[in-house]
Amino acid sequence: MQTITLTQPDDWHLHLRDGVNMASVVAATARCFARAIIMPNLKPPITTVNQAIAYKKQIVNIDNNFKPLMTLYLTDNTSVDEIVKLKDFPDIVAVKYYPAGATTNSDSGVTDLAKVWQVLEAMQKYDIPLLIHGEVTAATTDVFDREKLFIESVLDPLIENFPELRIVLEHITTQEAVEYVTSRNNKLAATITAHHLLMNRNDLFTGGIRPHHYCLPVLKRETHRQALLKAATSGNPKFFLGTDSAPHAISSKETSCGCAGIYSAPAAIELYAEAFEQVQALDKLEAFASFYGADFYHLTRNTEKITLKKHTWKMPSHFEFGTQKVVPIRAEQEIYWQLAK
Ligand code: DOR
Ligand code: ZN
Repeated sequence: MQTITLTQPDDWHLHLRDGVNMASVVAATARCFARAIIMPNLKPPITTVNQAIAYKKQIVNIDNNFKPLMTLYLTDNTSVDEIVKLKDFPDIVAVKYYPAGATTNSDSGVTDLAKVWQVLEAMQKYDIPLLIHGEVTAATTDVFDREKLFIESVLDPLIENFPELRIVLEHITTQEAVEYVTSRNNKLAATITAHHLLMNRNDLFTGGIRPHHYCLPVLKRETHRQALLKAATSGNPKFFLGTDSAPHAISSKETSCGCAGIYSAPAAIELYAEAFEQVQALDKLEAFASFYGADFYHLTRNTEKITLKKHTWKMPSHFEFGTQKVVPIRAEQEIYWQLAK
């Protein structure tokens, strides 16, 4: 049987939700990943150090072996003082910038970067990474062009003004993002999800509308998927793993106006292996999954190992999610790799 052994990976972009919902999903990530960057888009969002510390406690109460790396949610009202505090809280590793209205629970996001200019100056000074949901939000902008336009109109000027700020462009989906990230210095990196490596926008409409394939940024055409695969398997340390696993209750997905988010944690590393295998690049998986993210965040690399075996199994139709249920990626379909116990 074919097996691959990797240094234990980390997930550099994860949604865990909170309360009983979170209790249902932590194990799916902790079964494989040592650490994860925890997104702060709760209701209400995690905007302060105190909230982030309380949220972290909730997570470690569920699994003490798993290490959550916390983030603050940037708003128009974030204070410089809150940023200065971060130097005393090493478990809060970054600040997340959602353009207001860009995605799930982003209503409190930034309406105008001018409002957070001093906060960005402080982040640059204290070397705190800015994690970006890179999409413009104007309703008139075509949904498939939002990332590309964000890079031109927001990210590029931002980098010109803050050349020393470390930035992660999260869950990139386009060839333009790959090219832009590649062209800049090592202050700019990007995460790539398994679902954007494996699916294109046709997967939103195979045989009918597929709400469980709807995420933001939305799946793009095949040429972009190919560009992402090339970047992820290139051995360029600017590209690393971030699942963006984002569980929603079935009732919030299978409805007339469904939420964005794909729950991939139950098969995340297995699906990355599948994507890398598609382009005969399994030898590049370990660095992408286990080295480059830690290096970018100036954290030590993990030392434990995991093993994946080539073994076909069937993803369940759903998992418990608090008092409700969540449908995972590939529900009732085959997954070709499996984490060895
Ligand atoms: O698909 C997504 N789901 N994209 C995001 O940016 C947010 C996430 C969520 O929180 O559900
Ligand atoms: Zn996300």
